[in-house]
Amino acid sequence: MQNSVIASAPSNIALIKYMGKVDTVYNRPTNISLSYTLEHLRTTVQLTATAETTVATAATTDIWQPLSGPDFFAFTMTEKGQEKFKRHFQFLKKHFGYEGSVRIKSANNFPADAGIASSASSFAALTLAAQKFFLKHNPSAADLNLEKLSELSRLGSGSSCRSFFAPWAMWKKDQAEKLNLPEKYNQLLHLVIVPETTPKKISSSQAHQLVTTSRLFPGRPERAEARYQQLVQAFQDHNWKRAYQITWDEFMDMHEMFRACPEPFDYRTKGSLQILKQLQEIWSSQNDGPLVTMDAGSSVHLLFRADQKPLAETLKKDFQSQFQVWGQL
Ligand code: PMV
Repeated sequence: MQNSVIASAPSNIALIKYMGKVDTVYNRPTNISLSYTLEHLRTTVQLTATAETTVATAATTDIWQPLSGPDFFAFTMTEKGQEKFKRHFQFLKKHFGYEGSVRIKSANNFPADAGIASSASSFAALTLAAQKFFLKHNPSAADLNLEKLSELSRLGSGSSCRSFFAPWAMWKKDQAEKLNLPEKYNQLLHLVIVPETTPKKISSSQAHQLVTTSRLFPGRPERAEARYQQLVQAFQDHNWKRAYQITWDEFMDMHEMFRACPEPFDYRTKGSLQILKQLQEIWSSQNDGPLVTMDAGSSVHLLFRADQKPLAETLKKDFQSQFQVWGQL
């Protein structure tokens, strides 16, 4: 379509978690975070100009629809999700000075119930598509660099600001940036084991708010910063086991903070705990294994070094007999 643009962006998985905000309007994080970009898990966004409208009506005339195609999984966004997505697009329109109405279509190349949060890839793809769209419709619009686009995307969804950099991204305060780690860790293999396909009761936005009430929240920025430094050092020392231990302590810290809230909540289900136990057993019997982490959900993410492909294949098969498993090896 002549008046359409299309862009896609990857998801990312944090090893040092963004949890808690010092500023909810600008999504400024309480602490530093570090993520690996999941190039194989992507959202695609198509933007099409519809009728020209006035500034007054533009806010209400953008529409969202699922994008269909052989590469995409069927996908419906909740009303609330659509509102948040359109609100970010309207902010971008204002930023770039565009006043027309737009049809926003989007889809993921992974299933909605795969335990993979799509907000990072969706908002990064929307921001990238918006830049293309505004440049097409107004060639004098600012051609922003990745740092600036990442900053704009962060205002829609915090973790999306890391999806602009690969394979590793670090995010501190207002700025995400590419992080250079040894070459050996630039092409990791990823699996996600999904013990539950029912939607979670507490969204990550709610978790960001609730976590600040946790008895364990004080000292969190310092703990995250220390683990960030230690994790980077472990990679630089080629100490994979140490990286596993730090990554493990980090996601457990986040989940323990949730449990220590005045109204406790826990994303870890019986299935998650069983998966975690199996992974600990692998590490203790082989003195090697994948990096393990969990986001604000029950799924367990695994990252393997390229030379661990046979182990990744074995684990994929093993876990597949009991759970849904996604990822690319
Ligand atoms: O970007 P949000 O608001 O969906 O927050 C994501 C938070 C975690 O996934 C739990 C951690 C992270 O750093 O991605």
